[in-house]
Amino acid sequence: MYKIAVAGTGYVGLVAGVCFAEVGHQVMCVDIDEDKVNLMKSGTSPIYEAGLEELMKKNYAVGRIDYTTDYKSAYRDADAIFIGVGTPEQPDGSANLSYIATVARQISESIEKDCLVVVKSTVPVGTNDKVEQFIQDFLVNDVKVEVASNPEFLAQGSAVHDTLHAERIIIGTESKWAEEVLMEIYEPFNLPIVSVNRRSAEMIKYASNDFLALKISYMNDIANLCELVGADVQDVAKGMSYDARIGSKFLNAGIGYGGSCFPKDTKALENIAKQHGYELRTVKATIDVNTDQKTMLYKKASKRLITFNGLKVAVLGLTFKPGTDDLREAASLENVPLLLEQGADIYAFDPIGADNFAKVHPEGKSGKGNITYVSNIEEALEGANVCFIFTEWGEIKAVTPGMYQDLMRTPLVYDGRNIYSTSEMQEAGVEYHSIGRKA
Ligand code: UGA
Repeated sequence: MYKIAVAGTGYVGLVAGVCFAEVGHQVMCVDIDEDKVNLMKSGTSPIYEAGLEELMKKNYAVGRIDYTTDYKSAYRDADAIFIGVGTPEQPDGSANLSYIATVARQISESIEKDCLVVVKSTVPVGTNDKVEQFIQDFLVNDVKVEVASNPEFLAQGSAVHDTLHAERIIIGTESKWAEEVLMEIYEPFNLPIVSVNRRSAEMIKYASNDFLALKISYMNDIANLCELVGADVQDVAKGMSYDARIGSKFLNAGIGYGGSCFPKDTKALENIAKQHGYELRTVKATIDVNTDQKTMLYKKASKRLITFNGLKVAVLGLTFKPGTDDLREAASLENVPLLLEQGADIYAFDPIGADNFAKVHPEGKSGKGNITYVSNIEEALEGANVCFIFTEWGEIKAVTPGMYQDLMRTPLVYDGRNIYSTSEMQEAGVEYHSIGRKA
């Protein structure tokens, strides 16, 4: 079993650390935030992720995982150091590598034995080469250090499951030694391992995410055409999915992809291509379609209603997808300000994302409008003139068509997630607008 240090305790770092401990490695997670470290020591996860706290508590109790701000002691005698810090988007779309550089510098100062540094963060192609050079340039002790790429494919909301049952592990190395170390670290997971060179591994991450984003934008583009020609995008997707070459996943049309990854990684890859004098046209189209799609429902509703001024608007779902409290690039963040500007009286419901949303849009008057956060859906729907659905939470899916009819003043629903069958809503007397299907 290996002695592993993990730099950064966000989605990528913390989940990786906990799962390495779960399969038997000795793990030390490093973060600069003392409060966060104390929180994690007490068994509380700083992020909402199913099953994570359970594994944190279990592995902490048996001494297989610990947390610290003291990077020197964590890195000093580690066999491998995994870097899982953020690479946020910069204004020009490129990835900000300053957190990676800081960790690389700390590694150079701290390691006292041969060590494999593994970059898990999503980084532009060629970054691992630079990180290796950087670490070697600043190395204090006479030790062997190499850098490997090991991109992460977990999705928020199912992070622990995705890590323990990943469809593949990608390792990008430049030496037999580095390849063997990573192979051994991953051996107890018993998962398929694809071993390539570092640049290919870095590229696999972007190519995979951007392909999934492309799939979503393609279906959204097709959905918009379906509406014009009288086809039903859900039936179209179903028919397509029987072709194993297409597959059945990520064919759901909606109000565009959000989250911290697809929006960032599409722009980053577009940027990488630009730097090499190449225009990545499919990725550009992916981004363009997504930008338009996010306000598709608002645009539809604006045509139907003369104004939102003074209307009670029920907003169901705020997060970028269910199972997370993350709001990054969520469609709600685009639509709510548009509604408030118009003077809407919003009643918003989200099972766990409302507190985060209230940090951006505090409860009360906002411009010409007003926003109130409610903890039950009935309160949001009671007397509402119009309802928008932005996230397909289980609680929201459980609302029956009859409830819209019974509770709302005018049962007018704009569903960005195609939760209901159009005929069901029609039978219940609800005026129902969704994505890629007849109203
Ligand atoms: C995504 C990838 O799925 C992970 O494999 C990857 O590791 C991760 O990015 C990352 O790079 O860290 P995530 O952003 O957590 O994971 O969420 P997804 O489940 O992929 O959903 C992203 C967005 O696409 C959501 O807004 C979701 O509603 C939307 N989506 C997804 C659709 O609109 N239609 C679909 O059919 C599927």
